Amino acid sequence: MKLAILSRNSKLYSTRRLVEAARERGHSVRVLDPLRCYLRISAEGFGMHYKGRPIAGYNAVIPRIGASITRYGTAVLRQFELMGSFTPNPSDAIARARDKLRCHQLLAAQGIGLPVTVFGDNPDDTVDLLSMLGPPPHVIKLNEGTQGAGVMLTEKPSASRSVIEALRGLYANFLVQEFIAEARGADLRCFVVGGEVVATMRRQAPKGDFRSNLHRGGSARAVRASAAEQAAAVRAAAVLGLGVAGVDLIRSRRGPLVLEVNASPGLEGIEEATGLDLAGRVIDHVAAAHQPLRRNAA
Ligand SMILES: Nc1ncnc2c1ncn2[C@@H]1O[C@H](COP(=O)(O)OP(=O)(O)OP(=O)(O)O)[C@@H](O)[C@H]1O
Ligand SMILES: [Mg+2]
Repeated sequence: MKLAILSRNSKLYSTRRLVEAARERGHSVRVLDPLRCYLRISAEGFGMHYKGRPIAGYNAVIPRIGASITRYGTAVLRQFELMGSFTPNPSDAIARARDKLRCHQLLAAQGIGLPVTVFGDNPDDTVDLLSMLGPPPHVIKLNEGTQGAGVMLTEKPSASRSVIEALRGLYANFLVQEFIAEARGADLRCFVVGGEVVATMRRQAPKGDFRSNLHRGGSARAVRASAAEQAAAVRAAAVLGLGVAGVDLIRSRRGPLVLEVNASPGLEGIEEATGLDLAGRVIDHVAAAHQPLRRNAA
């Protein structure tokens, strides 16, 4: 197959590994910077140029689109879809996954467990908003936060209120959740490919923190997710329409709860923790699922 990887930087671990795995399997593969793809849209057909040259004929595209370029990146990916390329993660699925509130609503609507979450706009409603959640501790999360930055734990109602006031003053978007104390600073990352959990790692927060992000000094090891955990991860990816996803779960008294579904899950931490060739699994999935190219390019 002729494969494109949409990535801003071909030196990133995940991008390098996907290229390597595709070449090992005899596919033709090229890394394209989504910001250098430009698009012609017309009722007669769709065209695309890359750094001054027309490009077409890709059987499949693997998007590795960073959060900061979601909008342009998903437009480029949609153009590939309109030109007949297969992608395990369609543009609409990435857009759904990137919007935390929408994602929570869609998952909860399908009965997938998550920490109870509240969200509101007007400062006059803060006290009642918190009463909808229940007593602290609360976890307050910035919508734009990643890697644990912007995730705060408040232990008293007055602390929740003052953090919320401060965030409102900065015009930040955030949501507030019940704190799952029994997770004891650990979460699970399930790597889902083609409707199957192909690897799981357990991340543990460093001493004195509740956030298990590896970038915050958390440690990871390979584990086997339970049947209920695997089912939750697979369903969460399916509800959002993602063929490849990193689903973060925490273990609670009422079963696994989904924290986040990542549409561009990194390969480095989980390949290292599990010793598995996950890039190979992604390429094999794409190679098996892609169709001969539909011709509707201009
Ligand atoms: N409701 C909660 N109860 C207990 N621990 C939580 C809760 N929410 C998050 N955590 C812990 O904090 C960590 C970071 O939270 P989360 O994954 O939601 O934010 P992030 O990593 O900053 O953002 P993202 O994963 O969206 O990039 C989680 O991995 C988990 O260990
Ligand atoms: Mg996270």
